[in-house]
Amino acid sequence: MKKVITYGTFDLFHQGHYNIIKRAKAYGDYLIVGVTSESYDIERGKLSVHDSLLTRIENVKATGLVDEVIVEEYLGQKTRDVIQYGIDTLVIGSDWIGKFDHLKQYCNVVYLERTKNISSTQLREKSNEICRFGVITDDADDFGVVKETKYVSGIHIERVFSDDIDIAEEFCKKYELDSYSNDFDEFVKDLGIVYIKSHVSKRYDYIKKCIDKNLHVICDFPFSYDMEKCQELNRLAKEKNVALMENIVSVYLRAFTQFLWIARSNEIGKILSVNIGMSSDYFPYGKTLEDMSVIAITAIIKLLGTDYKYLSKHNINLDEDIEFSSLSFRYDNCVARAQIAKGADLHNHLTIFGTEGSIVLEDDWWNTGYFKVIKKGVKKVDRRSFNFEGTGFRYVIQELQIMLRDKRYECNRLTDAEGEAILTVMNKEAE
Ligand code: CTP
Repeated sequence: MKKVITYGTFDLFHQGHYNIIKRAKAYGDYLIVGVTSESYDIERGKLSVHDSLLTRIENVKATGLVDEVIVEEYLGQKTRDVIQYGIDTLVIGSDWIGKFDHLKQYCNVVYLERTKNISSTQLREKSNEICRFGVITDDADDFGVVKETKYVSGIHIERVFSDDIDIAEEFCKKYELDSYSNDFDEFVKDLGIVYIKSHVSKRYDYIKKCIDKNLHVICDFPFSYDMEKCQELNRLAKEKNVALMENIVSVYLRAFTQFLWIARSNEIGKILSVNIGMSSDYFPYGKTLEDMSVIAITAIIKLLGTDYKYLSKHNINLDEDIEFSSLSFRYDNCVARAQIAKGADLHNHLTIFGTEGSIVLEDDWWNTGYFKVIKKGVKKVDRRSFNFEGTGFRYVIQELQIMLRDKRYECNRLTDAEGEAILTVMNKEAE
């Protein structure tokens, strides 16, 4: 019996999919189709898949041509499948030409010409209502935001607002947006989502105005240093059924969720300490000490909770160019320390020590692309790696898009209580 395998996402099942499955079947007697899992698609940067895994599997089965469906969950799985299932021929579309030649040592690899003029991408573009996106800024640098929105289908960045019309114009020209304005009402007309990247002193007013116009908002953290104002904004957003999301990229990363889950489960026993180091030099667009503190404090609060017993903060400013801050937390049964520097190169890391092992994130750990789980008494280090593309802002927009699709306006990645705890730590006076 000749066994054939083919793979794909098979989103919004179309004639091109049917054709390749039919032609694949003709290469043998038994056809296996690998359908990509949601997490694998996200990892390889395919963020806009419309149909659930279940629907995509059902559609593949509905062809009546397939003998077995499997789920493709990670890069490199094809080699395992070909060996494990004793595959004679792997069939794949011509968009992958040459990409699977390494499998020729195990089976025949056939690249078939794609069906012309149809693709899931085309269908998604037709079916998706485009959500109009605007940016409020005080400077003409986008920090990668415009490019990031292009990776999320269904989002179109329309225009930019700045109080200073020259800045708005410069931004608009530089990033080739459709229009710019310093008139708020004109700016928000027909927009669905606004991203606010202005100075913290202006964020509260802008957020309030956007919520008032029923717009969903992504804003840099904190919304304000005034706790009551932040609480008011969260309340207003809930009343109006609009999403108000903090732009803290790490909490929207699947890898970060995985890492939290491992740390909080008993895999490394009870957590004894969390140690963090961060330097501004590692950020492509530079970061202030405050910006970095938000990331470090978020990691600690997400790992250990909001209920710390004692907190101390020490700042050292050697000169204008070198700033250093050290934060120490004491919880009931563990401690955490974050050391953050601007202008000095600290060893970037996040290390969690538990009673049964440790988890180590190195280098630009806030992107959480890779971490190691080291268990007590186990020689082999367990390495986990995940894809992280661009600045990560695309994952924030994508989360918002999923929330809007499900008509869910509260983001569960960072609760209000966690947001308030992070702000409390930021507002703590240095000793
Ligand atoms: N395929 C094809 N002809 C098309 C579209 C897809 O032969 N017009 C093949 C692909 O080459 C692949 C399989 O169908 O072998 C599954 O492709 P998939 O990536 O799921 O479909 P696309 O329509 O290419 O999806 P997208 O636009 O999201 O890339």
